[in-house]
Amino acid sequence: MEATTAKMKILLTGATGLVGRDLAFAAAEGGFELLSAQHACPPERGKPVLLDMSSSDSIRKAFAANRPDVVIHAAAMTDVDACESNKELALAVNAKATEAIATEARRAGSHLVYVSTDYVFDGSKGSYGENDEPNPVNFYGKSKLMGEVAAERFASTWCIARTSTPYGLHPRRKSFPVVVAERLSAGQEMKVVSDQRTSPTHTANLSMMILELAARRSEGTLHVSSSTGISRLEFAARVAKELELDGSLLRPASGEEVGWRAVRPRDTTLNVSKANSLLAAKPESLEESLRVFIPSLKRQQMHARTRTDK
Ligand SMILES: NC(=O)c1ccc[n+]([C@@H]2O[C@H](COP(=O)([O-])OP(=O)(O)OC[C@H]3O[C@@H](n4cnc5c(N)ncnc54)[C@H](OP(=O)(O)O)[C@@H]3O)[C@@H](O)[C@H]2O)c1
Repeated sequence: MEATTAKMKILLTGATGLVGRDLAFAAAEGGFELLSAQHACPPERGKPVLLDMSSSDSIRKAFAANRPDVVIHAAAMTDVDACESNKELALAVNAKATEAIATEARRAGSHLVYVSTDYVFDGSKGSYGENDEPNPVNFYGKSKLMGEVAAERFASTWCIARTSTPYGLHPRRKSFPVVVAERLSAGQEMKVVSDQRTSPTHTANLSMMILELAARRSEGTLHVSSSTGISRLEFAARVAKELELDGSLLRPASGEEVGWRAVRPRDTTLNVSKANSLLAAKPESLEESLRVFIPSLKRQQMHARTRTDK
């Protein structure tokens, strides 16, 4: 990728998040000129650019000063229950800020890649394709769908990249398989939702797909997730097996039993055949991604144990 994209300037929002942090590392290593939006936490990669999404003035200044070729908009309010209880903030961060970013992207001549979610669907059928009708069942999904509509309406060139249950390693944000590993390693029982299916996506694979969309200035909507649909309970059991932990500590539960307040869609698995035929960076199966993720998780656990022993 390096030879053709060496001069492409990317502004990345959400550069400190679960998805954005890996994207920032991949972009920096891939030879892009990276500008990383800074909000509460300083980004680890890229030139920091102050950008508060709750301020349209801050967004305008960031674009005027930097005029990126592409903006990858991965920042969002992602706590589904918090979005339900603070709709005003969810609206401001996920919908209004996306409108402002799309507007400024058009003014600056930047291509917009908007990272969106499988939660725009109602989960009644699963295996959703790009042409299926969104119908979100909670406010997080609604606010992200408003973001999608804003991207389409206000940016001149745009791509909506929908993903599902991203997981990876992060210094502060524990993704689902990391929590499973920690709980089972400590010999603790864990209640896991058994009746919800998604397409859990390794952030390393996701980063490569999103960067390719940016480099090619791809247009339209694309599903960029794992090619494997699975329930949370099955996913947890798979992680336990790979780490040789006691899977019998996993207890099937309902969303209510694990404390989810906002309603979740039942099956938002994504059909990735379009990404599969379009991209050089293919959507990986769970099997393929775990071959990369599990060794990295083991290394992290080993380092953590070494630090505790000292
Ligand atoms: N997590 C999921 O299950 C999931 C599923 C499907 C799709 N997605 C989508 O994937 C994208 C990345 O999600 P993620 O899991 O990486 O999110 P995350 O870990 O919660 O990170 C959110 C990012 O957004 C930034 N941010 C939040 N509020 C901001 C504000 N007011 N101004 C500027 N930046 C702000 C945060 O910066 P600070 O840390 O500095 O506040 C952080 O970098 C999002 O668009 C999300 O909707 C997520």
